[in-house]
Amino acid sequence: MQRNASASPLAPDWLAVPEDLNALHAPMWAAGVERNDAGMLAIDGIPVSELKEQFGTPLFVMSESDFRARARSFKDAFDHAFADICAGVDVYYAGKSFLCTAVASWVAEEGLRLDTCSGGELAVAARAGIAGANLSLHGNNKSDAEIRRALDMKLGRIVVDSLDELDRVAKIAEGRGEAAKVMLRLTPGVHAHTHEFIATAHEDQKFGLSMAGDTTDEEGLSAAEEAVAAATTYHSIELLGLHCHIGSQIFEPDGFALAAEKLLTFLDSMQRKYSIVLPELDLGGGYGIAYTPVDTPRPPAEIAHAMAAVVRSTCASLEITPPRISIEPGRAIVGSSTFTLYEVGTLKTVRVDAPAATAAKGAEGANGNVTFPRRYVSVDGGMSDNARPVLYDADYSAVLASRATESAPQLSRVVGKHCESGDIVVRDVYLPEDVAAGDLLAVPGTGAYCWALSSNYNYLARPGVVAVRDGSARLIVRGETEEDLLNRDMGVANV
Ligand code: LLP
Repeated sequence: MQRNASASPLAPDWLAVPEDLNALHAPMWAAGVERNDAGMLAIDGIPVSELKEQFGTPLFVMSESDFRARARSFKDAFDHAFADICAGVDVYYAGKSFLCTAVASWVAEEGLRLDTCSGGELAVAARAGIAGANLSLHGNNKSDAEIRRALDMKLGRIVVDSLDELDRVAKIAEGRGEAAKVMLRLTPGVHAHTHEFIATAHEDQKFGLSMAGDTTDEEGLSAAEEAVAAATTYHSIELLGLHCHIGSQIFEPDGFALAAEKLLTFLDSMQRKYSIVLPELDLGGGYGIAYTPVDTPRPPAEIAHAMAAVVRSTCASLEITPPRISIEPGRAIVGSSTFTLYEVGTLKTVRVDAPAATAAKGAEGANGNVTFPRRYVSVDGGMSDNARPVLYDADYSAVLASRATESAPQLSRVVGKHCESGDIVVRDVYLPEDVAAGDLLAVPGTGAYCWALSSNYNYLARPGVVAVRDGSARLIVRGETEEDLLNRDMGVANV
């Protein structure tokens, strides 16, 4: 994207001045979000002013049909691409990205399964009536209670993360006279982040069983092989197969493909060496979405075909029957289905020293300093409903939602209302100059890891989530009240 003449020197290079501040960049928004005839943002025809009136702000606004369509598109694309390989793919929606009982039920209705990573997420699944066979349980530190709960619910798979845990699962299952269905989470040394991936031999992180090490010498077995060997000795473990997850917000399929190749090669060597059959392989999640106009996610069909090509050719050259493949997308299903609606409050503009490159060109102000304006637009939420900018330096975008405008673009920073200077919602965005207190702003792409990571910092109540379908809106998670905030406070009588 080209930077045009009115670009602020304070803006990052990737941020172009929008030609039309009223336009919506489609990849960032849920289907059904558009400006109505009056210029107001609307979803399925419902103007945001109505949503504000009925449910207040901040508010997570989710399109149910968009969520369902993205869920289906992953299932259909992978089923189609892998039809000749393993007669379809099991798609586990990663509940950690956003989960409530309504969403769990949509996932099941669309033919997907559900990936959980705690007893709490299992409780949501149970409340939603999801069959245990369609659930998996992750986590690097599962408690005995969580493992027992998984067995009580007859989970389709427990994804075991370490040798310690394998032993614990085996013992708990043995005590119950059962066999636990287990996948082993391996770390293939492939790490992906957005556009690039790196491949390393060793793993220095908390998740999974490292594949680094000798696979022929008993003394130097990799942790991954030790786990396979151990699993074959336990009667109480039914080893279904192998799992890996290489990272998040990934656009290029190359990293997934390399991980698939590494795991298939390992799977083949384990099947031969231990005379076992490992019927399943899970390739995790991590597919990227558009948070800003420069993010260019691949359609599910493209990713599915690239991954299928590698699985097909690797299995052919190893001469093995392909395992049943599964994947675990979270963000790519829920992320763009949702925007956050905020109300604008305080505005202030500061003058900021120009970056060195601009100063060198001599663009001096009256006092000899080279400064440029940055406008701070405060909204009624912040890091308590979207921690991602603070945690990961994540970039977002925003539009004026309550009206259209012909006013000029102004470089702005959307900030929250918390007592932290780092409380930023959108670091850099061009918003209309005439944005004023009482206007509504919408931040797209907040479906994944926003509500899920939300907090009560500064005793703010966590926002509700509204689902819109067929032109009507309903709460699927109500917003917290002051009463909720005080609910767990034991009161002065107990001091
Ligand atoms: N499977 C496993 C084993 C995972 O650990 C994750 C994410 C997923 C699937 C789903 O990944 P997705 O398709 O949603 O990228 N809070 C961070 C992301 C943490 C991801 C944790 N694991 C963020 O907001 O970017």
